[in-house]
Amino acid sequence: MAGAYLDKSLKGRDFLTISDFTSEEIRLILDAAHDLKKELKEGIPHPVLQGKALGMIFTKPSTRTRVSFEVGMYQLGGYPLFLSAQDIQLRRGESLPDTARTLERYLDGIMIRTFDQSDVDELAQYASIPVINGLTDLVHPTQVIADLLTVEEHKGKLAGLKLAFIGDGNNVSHSLLQICAKLGVQMTIACPSGYEPDAKILAGAKDVAAKIGVQLDVVEDPVKAVQDADVLYADIWASMGQEKEQDERIEAFKHYQINTELLQKAAPGAIVLHCLPAHRGEEITDEVIDGPHSVVFDEAENRLHAHKAIMALMM
Ligand code: CP
Ligand code: NVA
Repeated sequence: MAGAYLDKSLKGRDFLTISDFTSEEIRLILDAAHDLKKELKEGIPHPVLQGKALGMIFTKPSTRTRVSFEVGMYQLGGYPLFLSAQDIQLRRGESLPDTARTLERYLDGIMIRTFDQSDVDELAQYASIPVINGLTDLVHPTQVIADLLTVEEHKGKLAGLKLAFIGDGNNVSHSLLQICAKLGVQMTIACPSGYEPDAKILAGAKDVAAKIGVQLDVVEDPVKAVQDADVLYADIWASMGQEKEQDERIEAFKHYQINTELLQKAAPGAIVLHCLPAHRGEEITDEVIDGPHSVVFDEAENRLHAHKAIMALMM
Protein backbone atom coordinates (compact mmCIF):
# COMPACT_ATOMS: atom_id res chain seq x y z
CA MET A 1 0.00 0.00 0.00
CA ALA A 2 1.37 3.36 -0.97
CA GLY A 3 -0.69 6.34 -1.95
CA ALA A 4 -1.86 9.86 -1.23
CA TYR A 5 -4.76 8.30 0.73
CA LEU A 6 -2.32 7.37 3.53
CA ASP A 7 -1.67 11.09 4.21
CA LYS A 8 -2.82 11.98 7.73
CA SER A 9 -3.27 15.73 7.33
CA LEU A 10 -7.09 15.61 6.93
CA LYS A 11 -7.71 12.99 9.62
CA GLY A 12 -10.70 13.83 11.81
CA ARG A 13 -12.03 16.58 9.52
CA ASP A 14 -15.67 16.85 8.47
CA PHE A 15 -16.55 17.04 4.77
CA LEU A 16 -19.46 19.49 4.81
CA THR A 17 -18.82 21.83 1.89
CA ILE A 18 -16.03 22.40 -0.64
CA SER A 19 -15.45 25.89 0.72
CA ASP A 20 -14.05 24.38 3.96
CA PHE A 21 -11.03 23.04 2.04
CA THR A 22 -7.99 24.70 0.50
CA SER A 23 -6.96 24.03 -3.10
CA GLU A 24 -4.09 21.89 -1.77
CA GLU A 25 -6.47 19.81 0.34
CA ILE A 26 -8.78 19.24 -2.62
CA ARG A 27 -5.75 18.30 -4.70
CA LEU A 28 -4.84 15.73 -2.03
CA ILE A 29 -8.36 14.21 -2.16
CA LEU A 30 -8.19 13.99 -5.97
CA ASP A 31 -4.71 12.38 -5.85
CA ALA A 32 -5.96 9.88 -3.26
CA ALA A 33 -8.93 9.03 -5.49
CA HIS A 34 -6.66 8.49 -8.53
CA ASP A 35 -4.42 6.19 -6.44
CA LEU A 36 -7.31 4.19 -4.99
CA LYS A 37 -8.84 3.76 -8.45
CA LYS A 38 -5.55 2.53 -9.91
CA GLU A 39 -5.02 0.07 -7.07
CA LEU A 40 -8.56 -1.28 -7.39
CA LYS A 41 -8.09 -1.84 -11.13
CA GLU A 42 -4.76 -3.60 -10.46
CA GLY A 43 -6.29 -5.82 -7.79
CA ILE A 44 -4.19 -4.32 -4.99
CA PRO A 45 -6.17 -4.41 -1.73
CA HIS A 46 -6.21 -1.28 0.47
CA PRO A 47 -7.95 -2.14 3.76
CA VAL A 48 -6.99 1.12 5.49
CA LEU A 49 -10.27 1.37 7.43
CA GLN A 50 -10.27 -2.14 8.85
CA GLY A 51 -12.30 -2.31 12.06
CA LYS A 52 -14.03 1.04 11.38
CA ALA A 53 -17.73 1.64 10.78
CA LEU A 54 -19.57 4.28 8.73
CA GLY A 55 -23.23 5.10 9.44
CA MET A 56 -25.16 6.43 6.44
CA ILE A 57 -28.30 8.48 7.19
CA PHE A 58 -30.64 9.14 4.26
CA THR A 59 -33.77 11.28 4.38
CA LYS A 60 -33.81 11.47 0.56
CA PRO A 61 -33.49 8.67 -2.02
CA SER A 62 -30.16 7.69 -3.56
CA THR A 63 -28.70 5.14 -5.94
CA ARG A 64 -25.11 6.25 -6.56
CA THR A 65 -24.24 7.87 -3.25
CA ARG A 66 -25.59 5.01 -1.18
CA VAL A 67 -24.06 2.19 -3.21
CA SER A 68 -20.68 3.84 -3.71
CA PHE A 69 -20.24 4.72 -0.03
CA GLU A 70 -21.40 1.26 1.00
CA VAL A 71 -19.19 -0.65 -1.44
CA GLY A 72 -16.35 1.82 -0.91
CA MET A 73 -16.36 1.22 2.83
CA TYR A 74 -16.35 -2.54 2.22
CA GLN A 75 -13.37 -2.20 -0.15
CA LEU A 76 -11.50 -0.19 2.49
CA GLY A 77 -11.97 -3.01 4.99
CA GLY A 78 -14.63 -1.22 7.07
CA TYR A 79 -18.31 -1.75 7.78
CA PRO A 80 -21.05 0.42 6.22
CA LEU A 81 -24.36 0.75 8.02
CA PHE A 82 -27.43 2.08 6.15
CA LEU A 83 -29.66 4.13 8.43
CA SER A 84 -32.92 5.05 6.73
CA ALA A 85 -34.34 8.11 8.44
CA GLN A 86 -37.66 6.23 8.37
CA ASP A 87 -36.29 3.63 10.76
CA ILE A 88 -34.23 5.54 13.31
CA GLN A 89 -35.59 7.62 16.19
CA LEU A 90 -34.81 10.89 14.37
CA ARG A 91 -38.15 10.40 12.61
CA ARG A 92 -39.92 10.30 15.98
CA GLY A 93 -38.33 13.52 17.08
CA GLU A 94 -35.06 12.48 18.75
CA SER A 95 -32.86 15.54 18.43
CA LEU A 96 -29.88 15.75 16.10
CA PRO A 97 -27.47 16.49 18.99
CA ASP A 98 -28.66 13.37 20.86
CA THR A 99 -28.41 11.32 17.66
CA ALA A 100 -24.88 12.61 17.14
CA ARG A 101 -23.84 11.96 20.73
CA THR A 102 -25.15 8.40 20.51
CA LEU A 103 -23.84 7.46 17.07
CA GLU A 104 -20.32 8.68 17.83
CA ARG A 105 -20.12 6.01 20.55
CA TYR A 106 -20.51 3.24 17.93
CA LEU A 107 -19.27 4.65 14.67
CA ASP A 108 -16.09 6.15 13.18
CA GLY A 109 -17.85 8.37 10.64
CA ILE A 110 -21.32 9.46 9.50
CA MET A 111 -22.45 10.19 5.95
CA ILE A 112 -25.75 12.10 5.77
CA ARG A 113 -28.04 13.08 2.89
CA THR A 114 -30.86 15.39 3.87
CA PHE A 115 -32.67 18.65 3.08
CA ASP A 116 -31.26 21.42 5.30
CA GLN A 117 -27.57 22.20 5.36
CA SER A 118 -28.07 23.42 8.93
CA ASP A 119 -28.99 19.85 9.99
CA VAL A 120 -25.73 18.51 8.58
CA ASP A 121 -23.80 21.32 10.27
CA GLU A 122 -25.56 20.61 13.56
CA LEU A 123 -24.81 16.89 13.35
CA ALA A 124 -21.16 17.70 12.71
CA GLN A 125 -21.09 20.17 15.57
CA TYR A 126 -22.25 17.54 18.09
CA ALA A 127 -20.49 14.45 16.70
CA SER A 128 -16.79 14.16 17.46
CA ILE A 129 -16.35 11.79 14.48
CA PRO A 130 -16.10 12.99 10.84
CA VAL A 131 -19.42 13.88 9.18
CA ILE A 132 -19.64 13.70 5.38
CA ASN A 133 -22.30 15.63 3.47
CA GLY A 134 -23.92 13.31 0.93
CA LEU A 135 -26.14 16.13 -0.49
CA THR A 136 -28.33 18.86 0.92
CA ASP A 137 -30.61 21.37 -0.77
CA LEU A 138 -27.64 23.75 -0.70
CA VAL A 139 -24.60 21.73 -1.83
CA HIS A 140 -23.42 18.35 -3.14
CA PRO A 141 -19.70 18.35 -2.33
CA THR A 142 -18.86 14.63 -2.77
CA GLN A 143 -20.37 14.77 -6.27
CA VAL A 144 -18.00 17.44 -7.54
CA ILE A 145 -14.88 15.62 -6.34
CA ALA A 146 -15.95 12.75 -8.62
CA ASP A 147 -16.78 15.25 -11.37
CA LEU A 148 -13.38 16.90 -11.43
CA LEU A 149 -11.68 13.50 -11.13
CA THR A 150 -13.55 12.55 -14.31
CA VAL A 151 -12.64 15.77 -16.09
CA GLU A 152 -8.98 15.35 -15.14
CA GLU A 153 -8.95 11.77 -16.47
CA HIS A 154 -10.45 12.78 -19.79
CA LYS A 155 -8.74 16.14 -20.33
CA GLY A 156 -5.43 15.48 -18.57
CA LYS A 157 -5.69 18.74 -16.61
CA LEU A 158 -8.09 21.05 -14.79
CA ALA A 159 -6.62 24.56 -14.64
CA GLY A 160 -7.41 26.57 -17.73
CA LEU A 161 -10.45 24.52 -18.76
CA LYS A 162 -13.89 26.01 -19.25
CA LEU A 163 -17.02 24.35 -17.82
CA ALA A 164 -20.57 25.31 -18.82
CA PHE A 165 -23.36 24.30 -16.46
CA ILE A 166 -26.76 24.37 -18.17
CA GLY A 167 -29.69 24.39 -15.77
CA ASP A 168 -30.75 25.12 -12.22
CA GLY A 169 -28.51 27.23 -9.97
CA ASN A 170 -28.94 24.62 -7.27
CA ASN A 171 -26.91 22.31 -4.99
CA VAL A 172 -24.75 20.71 -7.69
CA SER A 173 -23.97 24.02 -9.40
CA HIS A 174 -23.12 25.57 -6.02
CA SER A 175 -20.50 22.92 -5.26
CA LEU A 176 -19.19 23.16 -8.81
CA LEU A 177 -18.73 26.92 -8.43
CA GLN A 178 -16.80 26.37 -5.21
CA ILE A 179 -14.52 23.67 -6.60
CA CYS A 180 -13.91 25.34 -9.98
CA ALA A 181 -12.90 28.53 -8.17
CA LYS A 182 -10.30 26.62 -6.16
CA LEU A 183 -8.88 24.57 -9.02
CA GLY A 184 -8.66 27.17 -11.75
CA VAL A 185 -11.57 26.03 -13.94
CA GLN A 186 -13.55 28.82 -15.59
CA MET A 187 -17.27 28.22 -15.11
CA THR A 188 -20.39 29.72 -16.66
CA ILE A 189 -23.89 28.86 -15.51
CA ALA A 190 -26.73 29.32 -17.98
CA CYS A 191 -30.10 29.43 -16.23
CA PRO A 192 -33.46 31.14 -16.63
CA SER A 193 -34.13 34.26 -14.62
CA GLY A 194 -35.29 33.34 -11.13
CA TYR A 195 -33.21 30.16 -11.00
CA GLU A 196 -29.78 31.72 -10.44
CA PRO A 197 -27.36 30.26 -7.89
CA ASP A 198 -27.46 31.50 -4.31
CA ALA A 199 -26.01 35.02 -4.26
CA LYS A 200 -23.82 34.38 -1.22
CA ILE A 201 -22.32 31.19 -2.64
CA LEU A 202 -21.68 32.88 -5.98
CA ALA A 203 -20.02 35.89 -4.36
CA GLY A 204 -17.86 33.67 -2.13
CA ALA A 205 -16.75 31.55 -5.07
CA LYS A 206 -16.06 34.66 -7.16
CA ASP A 207 -13.80 36.05 -4.41
CA VAL A 208 -11.78 32.83 -4.34
CA ALA A 209 -11.65 32.64 -8.15
CA ALA A 210 -10.53 36.26 -8.54
CA LYS A 211 -7.40 35.54 -6.48
CA ILE A 212 -6.16 33.12 -9.15
CA GLY A 213 -7.59 34.98 -12.13
CA VAL A 214 -10.47 32.58 -12.81
CA GLN A 215 -13.80 33.83 -14.12
CA LEU A 216 -17.20 32.60 -12.90
CA ASP A 217 -20.29 33.89 -14.69
CA VAL A 218 -24.05 33.48 -14.73
CA VAL A 219 -25.84 34.13 -18.02
CA GLU A 220 -29.30 33.47 -19.44
CA ASP A 221 -28.23 32.26 -22.87
CA PRO A 222 -27.06 28.62 -23.01
CA VAL A 223 -25.38 29.23 -26.38
CA LYS A 224 -23.23 31.95 -24.83
CA ALA A 225 -22.33 29.64 -21.93
CA VAL A 226 -21.11 26.77 -24.09
CA GLN A 227 -18.90 28.90 -26.33
CA ASP A 228 -15.36 27.39 -26.12
CA ALA A 229 -16.48 25.14 -23.27
CA ASP A 230 -14.44 21.96 -22.73
CA VAL A 231 -16.99 20.48 -20.34
CA LEU A 232 -20.81 20.67 -20.47
CA TYR A 233 -22.74 19.77 -17.33
CA ALA A 234 -26.43 18.98 -16.77
CA ASP A 235 -28.55 18.30 -13.69
CA ILE A 236 -32.27 17.58 -13.42
CA TRP A 237 -34.64 20.55 -13.58
CA ALA A 238 -36.67 19.59 -10.50
CA SER A 239 -34.47 18.37 -7.67
CA MET A 240 -35.47 16.08 -4.81
CA GLY A 241 -38.02 17.96 -2.73
CA GLN A 242 -39.15 20.10 -5.70
CA GLU A 243 -41.47 17.50 -7.23
CA LYS A 244 -44.49 19.81 -6.88
CA GLU A 245 -42.75 22.39 -9.10
CA GLN A 246 -42.15 19.85 -11.87
CA ASP A 247 -44.57 21.40 -14.40
CA GLU A 248 -43.52 25.00 -13.95
CA ARG A 249 -39.87 23.97 -14.08
CA ILE A 250 -40.36 22.05 -17.34
CA GLU A 251 -41.73 25.26 -18.78
CA ALA A 252 -39.00 27.50 -17.30
CA PHE A 253 -36.10 25.25 -18.39
CA LYS A 254 -37.34 24.11 -21.82
CA HIS A 255 -34.57 26.02 -23.61
CA TYR A 256 -31.87 24.68 -21.26
CA GLN A 257 -31.41 21.23 -22.74
CA ILE A 258 -28.02 19.73 -23.64
CA ASN A 259 -28.73 18.40 -27.11
CA THR A 260 -26.62 17.80 -30.21
CA GLU A 261 -27.22 21.30 -31.53
CA LEU A 262 -25.93 22.89 -28.31
CA LEU A 263 -23.04 20.44 -28.00
CA GLN A 264 -21.88 21.40 -31.52
CA LYS A 265 -21.45 24.99 -30.32
CA ALA A 266 -18.97 23.94 -27.58
CA ALA A 267 -15.23 23.41 -28.09
CA PRO A 268 -14.36 20.45 -30.34
CA GLY A 269 -13.84 17.37 -28.16
CA ALA A 270 -15.98 18.76 -25.34
CA ILE A 271 -17.09 16.18 -22.79
CA VAL A 272 -20.55 15.97 -21.23
CA LEU A 273 -21.22 15.31 -17.55
CA HIS A 274 -24.45 14.73 -15.65
CA CYS A 275 -24.58 13.94 -11.93
CA LEU A 276 -27.54 11.60 -12.55
CA PRO A 277 -30.31 10.59 -12.20
CA ALA A 278 -31.21 12.01 -15.63
CA HIS A 279 -34.61 12.87 -16.99
CA ARG A 280 -33.83 11.89 -20.56
CA GLY A 281 -35.55 14.15 -23.07
CA GLU A 282 -35.68 17.03 -20.58
CA GLU A 283 -32.28 18.43 -19.50
CA ILE A 284 -30.34 16.07 -21.80
CA THR A 285 -31.20 14.08 -24.93
CA ASP A 286 -30.62 10.34 -25.43
CA GLU A 287 -28.36 11.20 -28.35
CA VAL A 288 -26.01 13.22 -26.14
CA ILE A 289 -26.03 11.10 -22.98
CA ASP A 290 -25.47 7.92 -25.02
CA GLY A 291 -23.14 9.60 -27.52
CA PRO A 292 -19.36 9.73 -27.87
CA HIS A 293 -18.94 12.97 -25.90
CA SER A 294 -20.66 11.64 -22.79
CA VAL A 295 -18.53 10.52 -19.84
CA VAL A 296 -21.54 10.25 -17.56
CA PHE A 297 -21.03 6.66 -16.46
CA ASP A 298 -17.29 7.16 -15.85
CA GLU A 299 -18.44 10.04 -13.66
CA ALA A 300 -20.89 7.75 -11.84
CA GLU A 301 -18.12 5.18 -11.31
CA ASN A 302 -15.83 7.87 -9.98
CA ARG A 303 -18.21 8.52 -7.09
CA LEU A 304 -16.81 5.25 -5.69
CA HIS A 305 -13.17 6.31 -5.94
CA ALA A 306 -13.87 9.85 -4.72
CA HIS A 307 -15.83 8.66 -1.68
CA LYS A 308 -13.15 6.13 -0.80
CA ALA A 309 -10.58 8.93 -0.88
CA ILE A 310 -12.70 11.12 1.39
CA MET A 311 -13.26 8.29 3.88
CA ALA A 312 -9.66 7.06 3.84
CA LEU A 313 -8.27 10.55 4.43
CA MET A 314 -10.79 11.75 7.02
CA MET A 315 -11.60 8.60 8.98
N1 CP B 1 -25.62 11.89 -8.23
C1 CP B 1 -26.16 11.36 -7.11
O1 CP B 1 -25.94 11.84 -6.00
O2 CP B 1 -26.91 10.24 -7.33
P1 CP B 1 -27.87 9.56 -6.27
O3 CP B 1 -28.96 10.54 -5.97
O4 CP B 1 -28.35 8.32 -6.96
O5 CP B 1 -27.08 9.24 -5.03
N1 NVA C 1 -29.96 18.53 -7.91
C1 NVA C 1 -30.27 17.14 -7.75
C2 NVA C 1 -29.03 16.32 -7.65
C3 NVA C 1 -29.26 14.84 -7.57
C4 NVA C 1 -27.99 14.07 -7.37
C5 NVA C 1 -31.14 16.96 -6.52
O1 NVA C 1 -30.88 17.60 -5.51
O2 NVA C 1 -32.10 16.18 -6.58
